[in-house]
Amino acid sequence: MPPMEPHYDLIIRNGTLIDGTGQPRFKADLAIRDGRIASIAAPGVLDAVRADGELDATGRIVAPGFIDAHTHDDRLLLSAPDMAPKVSQGVTTVVAGNCGVSRAQVRFRGRPPVPPLDLLDDEGGWFRFDTFHDYVEALEAGPAATNAVLLAGHSTLRVAVMDNLDRPASEAEAERMREMLDEALSAGAIGLSTGLYYEPARAATTEEVIEVAQPLAKHGGLYCTHMRNEGERVIDSLEETFRIGRELGVPVLVSHHKVLGRANHGRSGETLALIERTMRTQPVCLDCYPYDASSTILTLERTRDATRTIVTWSRPLPQYAGRDLSAIAAELGVTEEQAVARLAPAGAIYFSMDDADVQRILAFAETMVGSDGLPHDSAPHPRLWGTFPRVLGHYSRTLGLFPLETAVHKMTGLTARNFGLTDRGVLAAGAWADLTVFDADTVDEAATFARPIAPARGIDAVFVAGVAVWKDGAATGARPGRVLSREAA
Ligand code: ZN
Ligand code: CU
Repeated sequence: MPPMEPHYDLIIRNGTLIDGTGQPRFKADLAIRDGRIASIAAPGVLDAVRADGELDATGRIVAPGFIDAHTHDDRLLLSAPDMAPKVSQGVTTVVAGNCGVSRAQVRFRGRPPVPPLDLLDDEGGWFRFDTFHDYVEALEAGPAATNAVLLAGHSTLRVAVMDNLDRPASEAEAERMREMLDEALSAGAIGLSTGLYYEPARAATTEEVIEVAQPLAKHGGLYCTHMRNEGERVIDSLEETFRIGRELGVPVLVSHHKVLGRANHGRSGETLALIERTMRTQPVCLDCYPYDASSTILTLERTRDATRTIVTWSRPLPQYAGRDLSAIAAELGVTEEQAVARLAPAGAIYFSMDDADVQRILAFAETMVGSDGLPHDSAPHPRLWGTFPRVLGHYSRTLGLFPLETAVHKMTGLTARNFGLTDRGVLAAGAWADLTVFDADTVDEAATFARPIAPARGIDAVFVAGVAVWKDGAATGARPGRVLSREAA
């Protein structure tokens, strides 16, 4: 009798594999069964084997699906679950709940009254989960196209617990936040994020954060932070972050690392040296988005650091989304300061970094790629649709900042390792079949600051657990995503 023919759900043939570890590419066929990679075979070996689905990847790269290390997709996962801005870039997993803002454990009737919580909900009604467990349950009952990794946000906890945010938490309030964090971590959150830069958390002391974050150690959680200061006092903020990690005995993640403001241009040399030194004695991770412009809520303070400001949304004056603040002020016949007051609540893009710093940070061996995309802005920063292809196209292929294998590692294997996602981020037999097939010669962002909503070029097909979520330039509508948990190192 002939040996039993193995059955496969899908075979991707003739592709060039970049496996996510940083190792050089190689030619192989990839066979998938039950959502996982069943076999990686030398060319020819699977020629006689048939599968339910076949994909010819001649001339294409086959890589692990990209993991977006920094997102604000907490609501997008439910409200637009095909996740087009992400799967169109090759992203198969998003980390949500960043910068101190997460969506569960607090309720609002309408729009969240406290910026930057409104970044997660432009229309109101989406802060409706009393517990983190309820939110996870909703994601599991109505899954998205991508997988989700969730953080609980310290600012959300503060807003839920404190009547006045302009002071440090009392002992009783810290205790209540600690209980809520424990609930979130038990329900599936993998860590805590803070946004100490933002108003709802600015008055929180380092000690408050350490008090609230206690449950992280027991759950093997991660501490992620949009630091108190990314400009003049960036070194103090890094020291504060490292101290929090040391006192809690947990890994820290410096979110969207950058140096803001002209006076600080060039200081990434200093910050990276400190990060590198600290990494020898405690676990430190960092991510970065590949642009020299930032984006968040519109504040006067930030416009002062910027050479140019573009408004991304405005509640009272929505018609100005996508326009320069200077042009809006001229049209309204007011100063820029007055224009900011008229536009608020609003969001903006700020040109306040030096591309040399962006390149130095991106090229740093331990830096992961995270988009920090803001999915509900009317005229969003192009990082929402362009981050990953821009790293592959602009920074790797065009500028030659690092080889393609390194670029892929920064968005796959490195990220899966730092977040403790087992069997993800690498191509290996037994790993989940989260995959991106792309053209190394053409992959790049199509989004620009002037036209920020556009699917990337050169992304052919994207699979989550072996199911196509992006194909032929469109989302397929399949929603195989799961909420992923962290395996602590
Ligand atoms: Zn942030
Ligand atoms: Cu962010």
